[in-house]
Amino acid sequence: QDPRIAGISSAIRVIPDFPKPGIMFQDITTLLLDTKAFRDTIDLFVERYKDKNISVVAGIEARGFIFGPPIALAIGAKFVPMRKPKKLPGEVISEEYSLEYGKDVMEMHVGAVQAGERALIVDDLVATGGTLSAAIRLLERVGVHVVECACVIELPELKGRERLGEKPLFVLSLGLCSKLENF
Ligand code: PRP
Ligand code: MG
Repeated sequence: QDPRIAGISSAIRVIPDFPKPGIMFQDITTLLLDTKAFRDTIDLFVERYKDKNISVVAGIEARGFIFGPPIALAIGAKFVPMRKPKKLPGEVISEEYSLEYGKDVMEMHVGAVQAGERALIVDDLVATGGTLSAAIRLLERVGVHVVECACVIELPELKGRERLGEKPLFVLSLGLCSKLENF
């Protein structure tokens, strides 16, 4: 495993019982305070995705907006925000997804991407995989090929990988990828 990964993992703070009892909250704000760990995080993603003909980095609100843009700039791709409802001013397409309690909606601007483009989806963390699945559906509905989903952290006990099915998921802090052979 790359020696930079240990420094990245140790810069993530775990806060027990936030936002409610029993949840071990994975806090990436401490990673952002550590200039070496934050730079290493972006560099490792860039090393993986440069020269892969990715023209779109789709970042998921809110924490995918932290990691997505520096990756997009470094690999020469555009950045497309996947937003919570009623935030985007132009024409949107929407996708509903289920949360632990209730439902949420994710939106993307129509015209931000074209059919046939190759996209990377970026978020900070995969838990149940519901959020990433909605982002995949949104992009695939408009004919975009999702090359891979990339996160810093995975909560493996929630089996988000299973929910993503065949779609490759790369988790930086684990150095893990489900389907390297498809990449
Ligand atoms: C968290 C996290 C992921 C999502 C993962 O976001 O940042 O986006 O949950 O959960 P899932 O795999 O079970 O779908 P959250 O909705 O808490 O909002 P935020 O990023 O806006 O803080
Ligand atoms: Mg989030």
